[in-house]
Amino acid sequence: MMLELAGVEAAYGHAQALHGIDLVVDEGEVVCIVGRNGAGKTSTLRSIVQDIITVTGGSVRFGEEELAGLAPHEVVRRGIGYVPEDRRVFASLTVTENLTVPRSFAGAGAGYWTPARVEELFPPLAEFRGRLAGNLSGGQQQMLSIARSLLTNPRLLLLDEPHEGLAPLVAQSVVEAIGHLKSLGVSMLLSEQQLHLVHETADRIYVVDRGRIVFVGTVAEFDADEEVARRYLMVAG
Ligand SMILES: Nc1ncnc2c1ncn2[C@@H]1O[C@H](COP(=O)(O)OP(=O)(O)OP(=O)(O)O)[C@@H](O)[C@H]1O
Ligand SMILES: [Mg+2]
Repeated sequence: MMLELAGVEAAYGHAQALHGIDLVVDEGEVVCIVGRNGAGKTSTLRSIVQDIITVTGGSVRFGEEELAGLAPHEVVRRGIGYVPEDRRVFASLTVTENLTVPRSFAGAGAGYWTPARVEELFPPLAEFRGRLAGNLSGGQQQMLSIARSLLTNPRLLLLDEPHEGLAPLVAQSVVEAIGHLKSLGVSMLLSEQQLHLVHETADRIYVVDRGRIVFVGTVAEFDADEEVARRYLMVAG
């Protein structure tokens, strides 16, 4: 397997957010983490990239290597791309400048992804090359953020709610781009609240609730389980 979280416990200061996460992503797989607000989706992704949260127990293995304790940039160098929920593009730089920066981060150097290839994947980026990233729409910023990550030529791409806050049409174009990435063999782990958007793309689903995995299975197994969505994904009330 490519990525394996085993019994991961993680905390923000003294506040424990993850209570033993077991999760696997195999080569070429698209795995989706779903769960309510505050369930632990973002925290799970952060525990992989060692961003903001501190892993206090268990292990995060990527290939032969343990990631817990590394700095975020060291994780990126090992081949993990991370598109955080706040996207983090450089607002005062142009699209082209944003796409130039990540090349210096790339661990492997040469690879499939070039600025031309990411513009092909996301045509609006070619259209707005000279525009400041801060002046792009939310959807265009999301495309730019994914493009920046791809330029490091990651072996695994982590996407935190990539469709959140996007207008339906734009969300659909991100859905299509993710499908295209899958067809290119890009392994992905994404978090999502709008499960229908990834229904066609995801191979397997993990449901997280209160910092624990409460369901794992294929999309078909998830659909066949009448209890799980009602219990863990509906708004509590
Ligand atoms: N920076 C932080 N500092 C302290 N606690 C945090 C921080 N970020 C998240 N938490 C807490 O960790 C727990 C898990 O939150 P997390 O953000 O991982 O959930 P989520 O599933 O991504 O939710 P959402 O759907 O709202 O994005 C929650 O109790 C949350 O309040
Ligand atoms: Mg989140």
